[in-house]
Formats: sequence, structure tokens, C-alpha cells
Amino acid sequence: MDDMGIIPKKTRKKPNLGGWLVQIVKRMGDGSMELMELDRKSSRWSKVVDEIVKLEKKIFPKHESLARSFDDELKKKNSGLLYLQIDGEIAGYVMYTSPSSLCSVITKLAVKEKYRRQGHGETLMKAAIEKCRSKRINRISLHVDPLRSSAVNLYKKLGFQIDTLVRAYYSSDRDAYRMFIDFDNE
Ligand SMILES: CC(C)(COP(=O)(O)OP(=O)(O)OC[C@H]1O[C@@H](n2cnc3c(N)ncnc32)[C@H](O)[C@@H]1OP(=O)(O)O)[C@@H](O)C(=O)NCCC(=O)NCCS
Repeated sequence: MDDMGIIPKKTRKKPNLGGWLVQIVKRMGDGSMELMELDRKSSRWSKVVDEIVKLEKKIFPKHESLARSFDDELKKKNSGLLYLQIDGEIAGYVMYTSPSSLCSVITKLAVKEKYRRQGHGETLMKAAIEKCRSKRINRISLHVDPLRSSAVNLYKKLGFQIDTLVRAYYSSDRDAYRMFIDFDNE
């Protein structure tokens, strides 16, 4: 099985997706931009992971980077990775995992510098939230360095609240906000 194009090309059948994803499908109707889900059995696995690890090394300092453990993280059960491809280039990615049937965790989000401030981070987050919600979890949580104001703003815009400040989360002198959003599955 190959990667599943969550945002299908014009020729593919429109999938039955939640509200946010439907909006994203509409925005990406020209086919030059695709939101993909990395599939473990995909022949493109190595190529995509290599490209993302390169981005990860460029964007994040060592203490925040998953570059060395990316492959292993992704092989874990209940983890997933969505990536945005623009004209064949990976423009951004979001990674998530569901450690229990009640909650999911966003473990990584990044957009390549030249593609920032064009709504792609928001698109990726909304798609990841939809994926997590499809498992009927009650809570999505994440950690973010408070100095990453762009990311903190994005999470707040999507409804995440700050739970607490976790001292020395990334390293002895780098704290993290733990943020969460709750869902009512009634
Ligand atoms: C955080 C990040 C993913 C945002 O991606 P993006 O594609 O630029 O974000 P969007 O264009 O979708 O912006 C969505 C919202 O995020 C916030 N935001 C994004 N960039 C911002 C900036 N430079 N300043 C303030 N707010 C910002 C805003 O609330 C924005 O909504 P608005 O456009 O209505 O103001 C991107 O800046 C990034 O990759 N940063 C480095 C890695 C990182 O910090 N990752 C998150 C921690 S794990």
C-alpha cells in the first residue's frame, strides 16, 4: 500500500472527512499542494523520513530535535505523521501519538521557513487534530517551549490552553508549557 493522500488530487474520489479537513480539501483543489499521511508500509518511507530528518536538524536545536529517534518514534504503534507536499517538496509536518484510548499527544510540528505565515502550520495542526479525534479521544496535549511564540499563538488560536509550566523539560535551562485541548465525545 502506498501513502494515502488525505488531500486527494482532483481525479481521486473525495473522502468523507470531518469539518476542518473538508475546508482544507477545498483550499487545496489545484493539486499542487497535498496533505499526505505517511504509511509504514510505503515504498516512500525512507525518502520521506530522510527529508523530514534533514528539516528537523535544520529547524530544531539538539535538545528539541527528534532527528536521531524519528524512525523509531514513527514505528511505534498508534503514532502517525502527516506532511504537506508543495510541488513535490515537503513544506511541513506534524507528528502525533495516542498512548491511550483517552488521549493523544502532538509530538512535533514544523513548517519550512520559506513556507511560514501562509496558513500551513494551522492546516497541519487541524488535520492532526481531526485524525486524533477520529479515535474518539478526550484530550490532545503537547509540550512547547514558551519562547516559541509563533507555535504558542497557533496552539492558542486552535483552542489549546496552558496547563502548566514544566521546568527543565527540554534541558536544564529550557522549560516547556504543557498545553491541552479537551473534547466532549457525548
Ligand atoms: C510554529 C509554526 C509551525 C507555524 O507555522 P506557520 O505555517 O508559519 O503558521 P500559520 O501561517 O499557519 O499561522 C497560524 C497561526 O499561528 C500563529 N503564528 C504563526 N506565525 C506567527 C508569528 N511569526 N508571530 C506570531 N504568531 C504566529 C498565529 O496565531 C497564526 O494565525 P494568524 O495568521 O491568524 O495570525 C512555524 O513557525 C515553525 O515551524 N516554527 C519552528 C518550529 C516550531 O516552533 N514548532 C513548534 C514547536 S514543536
